[in-house]
Amino acid sequence: MTILDGKKVSNDIKDEIAEEVKKMQARGEKVPHLAAIIVGNDGASMTYVNSKVKACKRVGFESTLIRMSATSSELELLDKIEQLNNDESIDGFIVQLPLPPQIDTQKILMAIDPDKDVDGFHPTNFGKMSLDMTSFIPATPFGILELLERYDIPTKGKHTVVIGRSHIVGRPMSILMGRSGFPGNSTVTLTHKYTKNITQITSQADIIIIAVGIPHFLKAEMIKDDAVVIDVGITRVPDDSTEKGYVITGDVDFDNVKKKASYLTPVPGGVGPMTISMLLKNTLLARERHQK
Ligand code: GUN
Repeated sequence: MTILDGKKVSNDIKDEIAEEVKKMQARGEKVPHLAAIIVGNDGASMTYVNSKVKACKRVGFESTLIRMSATSSELELLDKIEQLNNDESIDGFIVQLPLPPQIDTQKILMAIDPDKDVDGFHPTNFGKMSLDMTSFIPATPFGILELLERYDIPTKGKHTVVIGRSHIVGRPMSILMGRSGFPGNSTVTLTHKYTKNITQITSQADIIIIAVGIPHFLKAEMIKDDAVVIDVGITRVPDDSTEKGYVITGDVDFDNVKKKASYLTPVPGGVGPMTISMLLKNTLLARERHQK
């Protein structure tokens, strides 16, 4: 059984991006600039956004963090987006999700200039991704593709089962694994909370990608021998014995599944760190596209 070391691979990618930034500087070009908007002060969201800003520093990007109050109106957020769309110094930006209930998320994502949408959530980018056109691929699915590629895990003709149909992970993942090329060319089954007899489906999977946010949902009995298992879950489970008061827990029953799987991502240290590196990669791509 091989552990897919997302932390190591993501560090390799950051090193590669930092090299590219150095080359840009040597050519006298502007370095990539990522902005992030966060509305409210949800603990997990703040942690993610701060990690994104820190990662920018590490690779030599410029970054801007825009904090807005939890009571901000939709119009205030749309105004901020318009400013970033028109600001030539910004190559790409993200609006951290989830947003407070008074704000319509789809309306916000539609307002982002697709050429600066480094999260790849705008319908234009999602459509282009589905049609094999150049776009921004959402960072978490992009990170999973990169892990499969760097570990040279065969995907052609394999049965990939995706569990969870979220717009951020499951849905795009199901499209990407079925596209032509590598990693892709899989036969894909997309399952969700209304799927009946899920074990019957998962037990036929060569590759399982799970993103449901239910700790330890995927048990060893649900997979076949030598399956490849990618765990996207990151739930904070309360635990008073730890300093932070919680432990980060994945969607996979790791200790038992590891006895059966051929490849497995740990949580933390698997898909999570990859997501940040792929956001940086998208921002680098945005800069390069703007440069042309
Ligand atoms: N919330 C959880 N994941 C993401 C992500 O990839 N991007 C943004 N903007 N918000 C998120």
